Amino acid sequence: MNVLISLAAVGGLFLLGTLGGAPGMGWIFGVVLPYLAVGIGIGGLIWRVMSWANVPVPFRIPTTCGQQKSLPWIKSNPLENPHNGLTAVGRMALEVLFFRSLLRNTKAEVIDQRRLVYTSAPWLWIGAMAFHWSFLIILVRHLRLLANPVPWCVTFLQRADGFLEIGLPVIYVTTVLFLAGLAYLLARRLASPQLRYISLAGDYFPLFLFLGIGISGFWLRHWTKTDIVSVKQVAVGLSGFSFDSDALAAAGSLFYGHLFLVCVLLAYFPFSKLSHFAGVFLSPTRNMANSNRSVRHVNPWDYPVKVHPYDEYEDEFREKMKGAGVPVEKE
Ligand code: HEM
Repeated sequence: MNVLISLAAVGGLFLLGTLGGAPGMGWIFGVVLPYLAVGIGIGGLIWRVMSWANVPVPFRIPTTCGQQKSLPWIKSNPLENPHNGLTAVGRMALEVLFFRSLLRNTKAEVIDQRRLVYTSAPWLWIGAMAFHWSFLIILVRHLRLLANPVPWCVTFLQRADGFLEIGLPVIYVTTVLFLAGLAYLLARRLASPQLRYISLAGDYFPLFLFLGIGISGFWLRHWTKTDIVSVKQVAVGLSGFSFDSDALAAAGSLFYGHLFLVCVLLAYFPFSKLSHFAGVFLSPTRNMANSNRSVRHVNPWDYPVKVHPYDEYEDEFREKMKGAGVPVEKE
């Protein structure tokens, strides 16, 4: 049910977006909604990050899985158990850029009906890396639409990405990896009964949304061969706050379908699980150095607490306790 609702929602949103190609609708779908989505996306993310940043973290609670730094003759593992800010940054960088903890994913299997064996399960890591890195490269490549003149690094990335020189216009490696990574992440959720059981609409919707954006982008480039000059005029207009009615009218329904799904993604981002991209930096178990032995940490709110010890409690309730047959220490 969650799968169908999410699929129908993304399909419906795409169709809604194609209305942008109707006469006079370009202003709404090509100007008003993109700015609104950027506003909600940035504002929502600031609110989300502030709400996390305001949560008190009185204790050092780093997750570690290596030898802590202690005596000089005991070899420590600074990346698994960072002891200062620099090594914590190193561990965080490996986590953010290479999803290092996901690479440790294992699965348990019973072999010969009696032996429990743990084996490495790298496919989730491979799928996640393919999707996230391709997404980043696609975003950078899209700057050729938004910037005029196009920065040299974007042109270079574009050339490198199309090095296979298959098709006209060339098919980018990252377009294929992006779609393949997403297809794997979706198939994995659908194929496993345990994963299906714990998956909600909030897990399927982003996958379908990204697939919708990727497929409509592929369609724009390789089938419909959209009027890229008008699209560029619309996109450059958006980044420079100048709008051209003719370009908005010529951009085409499919382009508006693609753009509208991107707007939905932007507005949905801060309120969904996708905000993990900002959350990882604020995760105390990840961003803290384990200096529990070398530095004395004092709870900043260590104010005197009014206590109520047992003998005072018994003095207060002795008669009632006796009446209820509860044993007391002093008669
Ligand atoms: C989340 C953001 C976005 C994603 C993931 C995305 C994804 C894609 C993908 C996978 C393609 C296929 C070709 C390629 O890989 O370059 C594509 C093409 C395209 N996208 Fe996007 N897109 C995004 C945002 C946008 C925005 C904001 C615009 C408009 C300003 C846009 C306009 C286009 C156009 C015009 C094409 C066809 C390009 C061509 O013919 O070379 N996209 N998009």
